[in-house]
Amino acid sequence: MRDINTAKANIEASGFLDIDIDVNLDLFSEIEKLKKEKNAIVLAHYYQEPDIQDVADFIGDSLGLAQQAEKTKADIIVFAGVHFMAETAKILNPTKKVLLPDLKAGCSLSDSAPPELFKLFKDKHPDHMVITYINCSAGMKALSDIICTSSNAEKIIESLPREQKIIFAPDKNLGAYLNKKTGRNMVLWNGACMVHEIFSFEKISKLKIRHPKAKVIAHPECEDVVLRIADYVGSTTGLLKYSIENQADEFIVVTETGILHQMQKSSPGKTFIPAPPNNSCACNDCPHMKLNTLEKLYVCMEYETPEITMNESLIIAAKKPIERMLAISKQYGL
Ligand code: 13P
Ligand code: SF4
Repeated sequence: MRDINTAKANIEASGFLDIDIDVNLDLFSEIEKLKKEKNAIVLAHYYQEPDIQDVADFIGDSLGLAQQAEKTKADIIVFAGVHFMAETAKILNPTKKVLLPDLKAGCSLSDSAPPELFKLFKDKHPDHMVITYINCSAGMKALSDIICTSSNAEKIIESLPREQKIIFAPDKNLGAYLNKKTGRNMVLWNGACMVHEIFSFEKISKLKIRHPKAKVIAHPECEDVVLRIADYVGSTTGLLKYSIENQADEFIVVTETGILHQMQKSSPGKTFIPAPPNNSCACNDCPHMKLNTLEKLYVCMEYETPEITMNESLIIAAKKPIERMLAISKQYGL
């Protein structure tokens, strides 16, 4: 039996509070109790495991989650997502406690843009503004003029004059997609998401032959070759909405598999086929998102750890471009 003090001392190494809990506990009702007792809200991304989605107060894409974090009256924000998302919630709520069930829930896309290297890149383009995808560290946000997500990126870009030179970071696939959509020529940082890069064009094409009536719906973090065969490209919220509103009975879903839970719940009569990766592993599951479990969520709420902590000057610097994004989104009714 691991004792609580040893587990707390080990959080930095393990990423979470590694203690044994009673296997007979009904975690769903325990979490509900803790929410009320502590005035806590559970925010979950669509890529979280189904149990976590079912216990969350709000499930959304990155923009929806940031908007909820900005307006919540809760004292504690429990973020069932990855580190940059919880960090964004903390930046918007510096005085609140923000918990992340597993601190090691990172993001390969965020890791592909170390702020020190990006600063050198930015300095080489002094006349460019920096639009940065929210999937990045607070250090990257502090170097940015405006943050965007996949659901507002087009509008954020269009809010700038056409002649304005722009650097887009860190996702080269989303950046290339946006260059095509907006007719701009943004300078792209060479980053990518390990999950969205792994989808196989060949296997999706074969699936399409076997399911000729299926709509292919894809996240814009995918490579161009995959996006070109998609019937619809959008953020996770956009994909879910399309799957509800479109008349088709079958959908080939080219993004992380967690989103299928809400798709199936919203349209029980429809069939959702997860797009296959280019190898035999389950690489269309995000290994970072899936580090969170219902058990870890319960433990982090009960003991109020691990918590996101940040220094004040970083919070101030990173907040400005996030607030700019939220203001532009409001302006466009997003
Ligand atoms: P959205 O939910 O904003 O579409 O982002 C997907 C993603 O990769 C989050 O990590
Ligand atoms: Fe990062 Fe990709 Fe996982 Fe999203 S799916 S958290 S972008 S690694």
